[in-house]
This record gives sequence, structure tokens and C-alpha cells, in this order.
Amino acid sequence: MQQLQRVLVTGASSGIGRAIAALLAEKGYTVTGTSRDPDKIRDKICGLRYLALDMQDPESIDRLAAEVQDTDILINNAGQSQIGPLEEVPMEKIRELFEINFFGLLRLSKALIPAMRRRRKGMIINVSSMSGVFGVAYTPVYCSTKFALEGLSRSLRQELAPFGIRVVLIQPGYIATGIRQEALFSSDSEYYKRLSAFKTIRDRNIEKGADPGLIAKKVLKVLQLKHPKPAYPAGGDAPVLAFMIRILPARLVEYFQRKKFKA
Ligand SMILES: NC(=O)c1ccc[n+]([C@@H]2O[C@H](COP(=O)([O-])OP(=O)(O)OC[C@H]3O[C@@H](n4cnc5c(N)ncnc54)[C@H](OP(=O)(O)O)[C@@H]3O)[C@@H](O)[C@H]2O)c1
Repeated sequence: MQQLQRVLVTGASSGIGRAIAALLAEKGYTVTGTSRDPDKIRDKICGLRYLALDMQDPESIDRLAAEVQDTDILINNAGQSQIGPLEEVPMEKIRELFEINFFGLLRLSKALIPAMRRRRKGMIINVSSMSGVFGVAYTPVYCSTKFALEGLSRSLRQELAPFGIRVVLIQPGYIATGIRQEALFSSDSEYYKRLSAFKTIRDRNIEKGADPGLIAKKVLKVLQLKHPKPAYPAGGDAPVLAFMIRILPARLVEYFQRKKFKA
């Protein structure tokens, strides 16, 4: 199997990205991790090179891409979340989340693919979410960014296969990280009561979620596969939800999910 060695992990300062970067560095990969402000990272991983990347700043993306043209494995992980009913989320906030979770990732991938294509080898791992598989109430924008990523990933996978580049989605369930979830709703909203109940349950699910190391282990496993599948649900409730989606009528899964979140 082709030897892929140099890894770029976006959003490696905390949570899932940090766990992936730490495990891959421990396993001997040459890892570069990103953060909007690498100088502020207090618990740096030994042996890791940190570079700056702000997904909302195209120049920052281009600068990083120019420095890491030798990347064999791109792990698109950096991201944020949002909670709010669509009608109350301002358009600029919708655009902002798309820049962070989707357009920034797309720009970085576009900038690194040509070199991978010329080398006839490479891998792109996109950290999506079960929110990219199943729509969840009160997070319509977050879900949309992840559904967009699912489409991009599955299409690229076929486009890049002839050049020896593998493209894979990792779909985490609830993972215990400090993921930023901007709350965009008002207390006099007609959604408020249901939304507050939903947020309490969602916050608790994340707090009690799986260890980010579980996602790192899944990524390592996928890196070692010659013919990986298009997508891997992993951690928390992801495998069970993915199974339910596969075998149950969609309306029944919706019913269970609404009940679970009191939505
Ligand atoms: N936690 C979960 O339950 C869960 C579930 C499903 C999917 N996910 C996905 O997993 C990925 C990682 O999230 P996490 O839970 O590990 O959250 P996290 O601990 O907050 O990590 C997010 C990472 O993204 C970086 N980041 C945030 N905004 C950025 C921006 N504008 N430009 C560049 N980098 C930025 C952060 O780095 P700096 O702040 O240092 O820049 C940080 O390293 C996300 O894509 C998320 O959607 C998480």
C-alpha cells in the first residue's frame, strides 16, 4: 500500500483535532496542526508543527496551503456549531458558519489537491457529524454545513479515485469537547421553551459524550485501510443512529429523535 506520512490536521488546538494530531504523532506520522492563534495553545503536543489558519480568512488559508503543499493526508476537522431556529438566525451568521465549516475547508482542499494529484497519492478525511446524516431541530445551519460537506466528500471521492486519492467522511456522534455552539435565539421567541429544553439535552449529551480519542482511533484505523468506505459513523450515539437510519422508516427515526430532544 502507498506510504502516506505527512499529515495536516486543521483545528488541532483542542477536542477531536487535538486527539487525532496527538495519536498520529505518537504513531510516527509527521503532523502539522493548525489553530487561529498557535501562540495561545498552552498544552502543545510534543513534536507537532503548529501553523496559523483562520477558516474565515481566505488569505490565511492560501498562506497555509502554500506552506504545506507536501501534505499526504489532509484532515479537515476545524469547525464550530450554532443553535437557533432558522427564522431567528441572521444571514451574516449563516454565512459565517458556512465560511468556517464549509467554504474554508473547500478552499483549503482545492489548494492541496493539485499536488496530491500530481504525486498520484493522498488522502482527505473530512470530519462531518451525524448532523450531516440526519437533520436535527434548532441546528438547521450547522446541519446544512455538514450535509454540504457530505455531498462534497462523496463527489470528490469519485473524482479523485483515478489519481490514487482516497476521500473519507468521519461522522462523530456526541463527543466530549468544548465545541463552540453560538446560541442565536431570544428569550421572547415562540421557540424558546422547546429550544431551551433541546439545548439542555444537547449540552448534556456533549458533556457526557465519547472521548475524542475514540475518533482519533477511528481515523488511524481508516488511514491503514486500502479501500476505505465513503463514511464512518463513530463515537457516542453515532453507530446506533446510523443503524436505525439504515433499517427503520425515516418517519420513525424522526419520531424517536424528536422524543429524545423534546423537540
Ligand atoms: N464535539 C462533538 O460532539 C462533535 C460531533 C460531531 C462533529 N463534530 C465536529 O468535530 C470537529 C471538531 O470539533 P470539536 O468538537 O473538537 O470542537 P473544538 O474542541 O472546539 O475544536 C474545534 C477546532 O477548530 C478550530 N477552529 C474553530 N474555529 C475556527 C476557524 N474559524 N478557523 C480555523 N480553525 C477554527 C479550533 O481552533 P482555534 O480555536 O485554536 O482556532 C479548534 O482547534 C468540528 O468540525 C465539529 O463540527 C464535533
